[in-house]
Amino acid sequence: MVTKAEHTAPKGGMAAACAGLVNRDRLWHRHMEMAKIGAIPGNGVNRQALTREDIAARELLTSWARARGFAIGMDRIGNLFIRRQGRDPTAAPILTGSHMDSQPSGGRFDGIYGVLAGLEVLEALEDAGASTARPVEAVAWTNEEGGRFAPGAMGSMVFSGARRLEECLDIVDSSQVVLKDALAETLAAMPDAEERSFNFPIAAYIEAHIEQGPRLEQSGLPIGIVTGIQGSRWFEVQVTGESAHAGTTPLAARRDALQDAIAIVQALNEAMHDETDTVRFTVGRFEVTPNSPNSIAGSVFFTIDLRHPQASTLAELGDAVEGICQGAARRCGVRVKETFNRPPCVFEPRIVGMLEESAGSLDLPHMKMPSGAFHDALFLNDVCPTGMIFVPCENGISHNPAENATPDDLAAGARVLAMSVFKLANG
Ligand code: GLV
Ligand code: MN
Ligand code: MN
Repeated sequence: MVTKAEHTAPKGGMAAACAGLVNRDRLWHRHMEMAKIGAIPGNGVNRQALTREDIAARELLTSWARARGFAIGMDRIGNLFIRRQGRDPTAAPILTGSHMDSQPSGGRFDGIYGVLAGLEVLEALEDAGASTARPVEAVAWTNEEGGRFAPGAMGSMVFSGARRLEECLDIVDSSQVVLKDALAETLAAMPDAEERSFNFPIAAYIEAHIEQGPRLEQSGLPIGIVTGIQGSRWFEVQVTGESAHAGTTPLAARRDALQDAIAIVQALNEAMHDETDTVRFTVGRFEVTPNSPNSIAGSVFFTIDLRHPQASTLAELGDAVEGICQGAARRCGVRVKETFNRPPCVFEPRIVGMLEESAGSLDLPHMKMPSGAFHDALFLNDVCPTGMIFVPCENGISHNPAENATPDDLAAGARVLAMSVFKLANG
């Protein structure tokens, strides 16, 4: 919606005007308001996907959007779209956003920054009275983290066609809540959102995010232009033995699932060891049953997160996981299930170049860099030209309540975003 008279400034001038109207304090204040939802000790948030906190965050975001007259839409997996209309309402929009869900012990910026920066861009365009040929939409993708319902990037995967909605509906969280029930509550909380389809045509997608690593801060640069995202594979491993009395059961009679799980993790660590420190191998969840000091563990469930920037190495290491697990088990049964397999992606050089150009014309020092974390952009890249902008985070810490970023850096990233989105929406 254009509420002010359309400016007739030349393209570069209006793009710069939009960047200049990014409001640093509004953007920061909104981060702090969002951080109250699901606040946990140590300055962090627990706002996991499809929880009451996620719904509250959606309501707060849309209250800000509605106050500016933007239209709200949602698709059947709860991806939320906020639209500022263009001169041609039928044209494929420019999308910008990220996710609002957090890790169970997460920070105040991972994901939510990209969503709030997207809304800030819509508001800056509005404040500038900017006219765009294409509509511009801010998007919040559902369940990027995957900490509650694995795997992550679920909303963007389903939107882009990498996974069917039906394949996600029966996934359960660690309390046995079924995704379809949690999703139904989320959808019902916003009955007046316009229904959007999956995979509608998009002209380009740009995602802003904190770096989640130390490179920008160490280099003293406010902006990273992301060249691509490393690949990831996730596995779930179930080790099944037999629970028995800790005081009476002789070693020879034990089928101790915890001892076997330790041996398996040890074997995996050895196989994944890499002198160059490029392989990323993590066992992040480890659940022992019955988890009692004087009972031998009857079963262990654990997860594997494996990442690498080269598709061939990721394929080779990931394909070895099942055999290593089976080979290291001594007395217990082992089941390995792969829940996520996504090769690395490379962003289109035209988009990377355009983002660099925007940072350059705003006099913001920047560097090109790959992303070690995955993002919704990994899946949007399948369906439209895609790019990402990183801003520094303190000490590179993320997925931790201590995650921090400065108001100036967040605003700088949003300025690069505003200029780029304006150009794309008129290109
Ligand atoms: C995203 O949260 C990731 O795990 O990379
Ligand atoms: Mn994120
Ligand atoms: Mn994350």
